[in-house]
Formats: sequence, structure tokens, C-alpha cells
Amino acid sequence: MSLREKPEVMLRHVRKPLLHDSAVKQVQGAAPYIDDLPEPAGTLHVAVGGAPKAHGTIATLDLDRVRQAPGVVAVITAADIPGKNCVSAHMEDEPILAADMVEFHGQPLFAVAATSRDAARRAVRLARIEIAAAPPAVTVDDGLETGARVLPDYAFLGGDPNAAIADAPLRASGTLRMGGQEHFYLEGQIALAIPGEDGAMLVHSSTQHPTEVQHIVARALGVPDAFVTCEIRRMGGGFGGKETQACQWAAIAAVAARVTGRPCKLRLDRDDDFMMTGKRHDFRADWSVGFDQEGVIAGLDVLLAARCGMSADCSAGVVDRAMFHADNTYHLPAFRIDTRRVKTNTVSNTAFRGFGGPQGILAAERVIDAIAWRLGRDPLDIRKANFYGPGRDRTPYGQVIEDHDVGRALIEQLERMSDYRARRAEIAVFNASSPILKRGLALTPLKFGISFTLASMNQAGALVHVYQDGSVHLNHGGTEMGQGLFQKVAQVAAEEFGIGLDRVRITPTSTEKVPNTSPTAASSGSDLNGMAVQAACRTIKTRMIAFAAEHWSVPEDQVVFENDHVLIGNQRIGFGELARAAHCGRVSLSSTGFYSTPKLHWDRERGTGHPFFYYAWGAACSEVLIDASTGENKVLRVDILHDVGRSLNPAIDIGQIEGGFVQGMGWLTTEELVYDAEGRLLTHAPSTYKIPVASDVPADFRVALYDGANREETIYRSKAVGEPPFNLAVSVFCALADAVEAACPGAGQKLDAPATPEAIVTAIGDFDVVAALAGALAPNS
Ligand code: MTE
Ligand code: MOS
Repeated sequence: MSLREKPEVMLRHVRKPLLHDSAVKQVQGAAPYIDDLPEPAGTLHVAVGGAPKAHGTIATLDLDRVRQAPGVVAVITAADIPGKNCVSAHMEDEPILAADMVEFHGQPLFAVAATSRDAARRAVRLARIEIAAAPPAVTVDDGLETGARVLPDYAFLGGDPNAAIADAPLRASGTLRMGGQEHFYLEGQIALAIPGEDGAMLVHSSTQHPTEVQHIVARALGVPDAFVTCEIRRMGGGFGGKETQACQWAAIAAVAARVTGRPCKLRLDRDDDFMMTGKRHDFRADWSVGFDQEGVIAGLDVLLAARCGMSADCSAGVVDRAMFHADNTYHLPAFRIDTRRVKTNTVSNTAFRGFGGPQGILAAERVIDAIAWRLGRDPLDIRKANFYGPGRDRTPYGQVIEDHDVGRALIEQLERMSDYRARRAEIAVFNASSPILKRGLALTPLKFGISFTLASMNQAGALVHVYQDGSVHLNHGGTEMGQGLFQKVAQVAAEEFGIGLDRVRITPTSTEKVPNTSPTAASSGSDLNGMAVQAACRTIKTRMIAFAAEHWSVPEDQVVFENDHVLIGNQRIGFGELARAAHCGRVSLSSTGFYSTPKLHWDRERGTGHPFFYYAWGAACSEVLIDASTGENKVLRVDILHDVGRSLNPAIDIGQIEGGFVQGMGWLTTEELVYDAEGRLLTHAPSTYKIPVASDVPADFRVALYDGANREETIYRSKAVGEPPFNLAVSVFCALADAVEAACPGAGQKLDAPATPEAIVTAIGDFDVVAALAGALAPNS
């Protein structure tokens, strides 16, 4: 049958390290983003006014001077929203524009539509706002104290963790604080709303979730979903920050367009984007562990408290995913993994690459390091001793790990590839003779669960047309944010039809073409949309095969698509020729495709099930250098071995691994969000918030793909790659903690994330440079 999986050697597009479809255009500045689209005549520009206090009730919102400002066409408040003033898809806890309560500093209160962006921004500043302020809960500790939650507490409990810890030969405990992270997508939040006839609205939105934008905009306008279309060709980065949080700006732009009857564009200023949109959740992890002399864990009790901000947003899923990854690759015989979804008077935190997973994993790795420090053992040995294995394969959420052999093979391979043991010995020698500069090393494993943990989200649709010349219009529900999804899926379509990629037209994501989609998130974009597109292509191909077999009187298995041609018995015609012939034979050359991930079930009430279709495995070995007196630090070398199954496109996958890793490094080393006691974000621009740049990429950076197919039937046996490698940066943090421990035994456990120079110096405490140098210079040292 010609629909069978092709033998590997016959693959023409899949597995090839092809360029991202937009790579050249992006480098040339020729790839249009929303702000580059030609503005329809009469387009107005919208700016948003935010709350001057973090908590309280609105006493005065005097916008008279705003209305009178030059260029202002309309001023919009909550009262102007014709439909529902709510930006949450499933809860009632966050307004589009606050009406009476203010719950964070910078919360949108009103919007101005003016003839220019500059006029709109100047007008916003003329508002007179008074807030009857109440004390804000800013930090996770403040929130724990008030007891306020955005969602109920939730825990996984297995065995008797208290007894297991109490009865264990050894115990350790501690607290690890992990900071949040600003997405810093290069293209900020933006929407352009264009009113249509009969109350329709077309919204160009930089969103990972066009369906949710469509729905929230329709609900805000008070029209049925079918009256709103959301379209997006590409984002200049999303990283989770546009999974839910694009809706607000789209809704404000749409309401402004409704009120004025003119197209309205809202592009957030970068500082406003920092202050008005949610970030990665910062966490506090309080843990205690019982273990034996070999470092094998008997029981773990961990409490993960997350700063969720003023509303739930997607904190349910984020904090759940932290729980799902608090084991990382380690078997826990007895456990309590408890969570607090803490409500604070700060912007509502949201999805960010890894979606809570990194926070869970970092907590797990801190526990392992603490055990190693206590025993005076190499942390890698403790990691191996606790690794999932035969008979030790049940996760805290009931899913049995079937492929722990992959994880173990991978960590052992990386141990060899990185020359771990020899370098460990060499670093010990270096540290013994270097009083102030200390090196650290860590090799950490990774297991990342692939699927949305809300099972219903694991579905995707596609729409494929073959035109009479044999060119193909490709569309699916996934969105392109730079990760290369469109390129990968185009490779799948070209492979299915046996045609060149130049015959496949990639088109913008639109709710008009593929409805009811999930966000492009959870790294599942290519898994889901690749399969949906393959299904659509196969439907069309099946029809073409049936037509050709009948028309040329050959058996169906003698119709084969290859190299832009179709072999039909012993004749060979162009793919376009067959398309034209099939069209004349009145065969439909257009089809939708649909996919839903198999094998998923999850009973959250009972905390058990099979929430993940499969796992992506990986490991990273990082070596760092710190200055124990100043905390300055540097990543010297990184070795990564990562499992992407059989890659759809190794160039794109390696790009995702490198980019994800460096973004993770940023989270754990330089990116620090600082709020003052009043709940104001002080670090709201690149002048005060440091993301990694090219010079922060490790000078010696070795990335390899693990050789192995996905054991589950995914698209061409590939694996998701978008988020998992982010977590590999945990090795950098562990290496920094290793160096801190070398500088001052007992200090490793005091290191919090991000490990800024300040955090490193704080962990080490009073470091006496003179004494250290004197010690090093002493004759017997
Ligand atoms: N890569 C780039 N260049 N830009 C992005 O915004 N987002 C990440 C990851 N890689 C992102 C990225 C996140 S958070 C996710 S969930 C996945 O891409 C989403 O895309 P995928 O499912 O197609 O991998
Ligand atoms: Mo990614 S955080 O799932 O958008």
C-alpha cells in the first residue's frame, strides 16, 4: 500500500536539516509581523492606562483631560465593553479593564484610541486616578501569610512519607527559592482589530492561541464566536507569554474598533509589556528527604508554593506540571508533593517554556545535591542511584515509566562524551589550589512529560487543498512563534504527496480555516498538527489513488507518489497532471484532517492516570567558574545529549535545544525580577533586566541528538522538542551550587535561583579574601 510508512532511506524532506521557512526573510527583515502589515485607512492606535497602586478600590477615574488631548478619538473603560468584561477562558477572576477593584500595579483600567501611537501614549498620562489603597501581598511569603489562593491546594500522596523520612538512616531538609522570568519575546504583545459587516471583527493577534482570542473577543463584544476571526502568520516569539495573555490586548483593540468603527491597533510599549503581562511563576520549595548511606531516597516531602498573581490564568496547569516533574528521573517510594497556588497583588503569572516543569525539576535536583553533599559523594552517583528502573518505575501520579532504559543509556553516554569523571578529578585539583576562583561541574538528567495534562486539549485540525496545478495550500491550527513548526509540518505535507517543498504553500493560522484549536503549547505543536496534516493529505491521496486506479485500470497498490510524479502502473505522470485529471473526474482535492492523542487518561481527583503520551529524555553536563569573593560567574563548557526521537528536522531541533538551554540559563543566572514592597516591578526594561545575549552562550557548547526512535507512534517517530531542553539548564545551576560548595562547604544549599553574583555572594556569606589568599600561600598548602 502506498499509504504505509515510507522506509527511512526513501524520505526526501523529513529528517533533513532544512532551513526554517522564514529564516532568510527574518534575517533580511522581510518577514512581516503584525506591526508590519499595511494599516487599513483610518487605523487608530491604542494605548492602555494602568493602575498606579497594586491593591485597592478605584476612588477616582477622571479621564476628562485624556479625552481632550490632541488626536484622541475615544477613551474606553470597563463601561464601554458591550459584552463580558472578563479575560479568563474558564474562570471569572480577571477583567479586561478593571471596574472597581485594583489587584496589581499596572492593571489595565482604561484605553485610549488616537490618531497616532504617540498621541495615545501621551494622552494616557493625563488621567487622574485615585485608589483607596489596601496593603498589597507581593511575595509568595506575603501570600502564604494572607492565605489567599487563586485555586485550591492540591497534593500527590503515596505511602507514608512522614514515617519513611523519620525512619530513614539520614535526613536532610531545606528551602529553595526560584525566581520568575519575563518572556522578553522580541515582538511584544500586539493586536490589530478590523471591524467588518454585521458586527464581525477580524483580529490579527500575536497569539499562540487564536481560538481563545476569538472566543474572548467575541464574548467581550457580545457576538457569537462565528462573527470573530483571529489570524496570525507568525509571532516574534511567544515562549508561553502569548498562550493566554494575548487575549486582553486583542479584546481591548476589538472593543476600541467597535466603539470607533475604525481599525484599531494596540502594540504594548515594552515597559508596559513587562508590567502588564504575566511571567514565569516564582516558587518557594520547602523539602525534606529521608535516605540511606548510598543516597537512595526513602521518602520525600515537598511543598511547592507558587506566586500566581492576582488571578488563576493557567496556574492550574503550571503548578500541576511542577508536581508532575518534582520526581524528575527519580523513583520516590513514599512522597507528599503538595502545592499552594498563592494569590498575590501582582500581575497574573502565566505559561513560560516548561510550564512549571523546570521549577519541579530544580527542586528535585536540589534534593539530590543536598544528599550528595551530606554523604560527601559525587552528585552524579546519587542521581544514578535514584534513577527510575525495573520495579522502580511508578511515578507519583501513577504513570509507569516504560522507557527508563533510554534515560539511563543517555546519562551514561553523556558521562562518557563529556569526560565527566576525569574533569571532576581535574576540577578538584584546580579548586584545591585556587583560593578565590572555584570551578563547579554538574551532570543532570531530564525526563519531560509530553501532552497537555488536560486531556481534552490534545487535539488538532488541519485543512489541505491540492490545486489543479498540483500546488498545495497548507493550513493547520498550530501557530508559528519561531520554533519551526510551519517548516516541519510543510516537510510532512511534501513527503506525503511526494512533491517538492516549493509546491507547498504555508499559510497563516486562522480560526476561519481550522476551528476549535488548542494553543500551540506544551511542545506538542508538531506532534499534533503534523499528524492532523498527515491525515488530511492521506485523505486526498486516497481519493487520488482510487481515481487513478480506476481511470488507468491498475490496482491501487500500483499508484505511487514520488519525486513530483505519480507512478500509475507502468506510466509516470506529473503530480499536477493527476490533480487536474482527478478534478476533471469530479474528485474533491480538499480535505480537513484531525488528530487526537491516544492513550491519555488522567483522574485529577484521585491523582492517578496516564497523563503523558510519552517522555522526552535528555541530559546536560555544565562546567562553571565562580569568583567566590564577588560572585561573578561564567559557564565554561556545556555538553548536551538530548532525545528528540527521530528528528523531523535536526537543524531546527538543535536550534531549539541551544535556544531553550540558553533561555534556561538566563532564568537561573541573570534574569531577576524585583518588586518593591508596594508591588511595583522595578525591573521593567532591558536596562535593569538581563537576558542572555550571544556573548553569554557557552564558548564550548556541544549539542548532540540521542539516536533512537520514539517508541510511540508519533509523526515520523519524532519527539516534541520545544520545552524539554529548557530544563537542561538546571545543570548550570547545579554546577554553580557545586562551585559554591567548593568555596564554602555547607553553602551550596543556601544558593537560590537566579544565581546572580549577589545570590552567590549571599550563599557563601562573609568571604575573607585575605585569609583565603594567606591560606593558599602558606608553605604547607
Ligand atoms: N522557540 C522559539 N523560537 N520561539 C518561541 O516562542 N516557544 C517555546 C518553544 N520554542 C518558542 C520556541 C514554547 S513555550 C513551546 S510550548 C513550544 O516552542 C511551542 O511550539 P511547538 O509545540 O511547536 O514546539
Ligand atoms: Mo509553552 S510554555 O507550553 O507555550
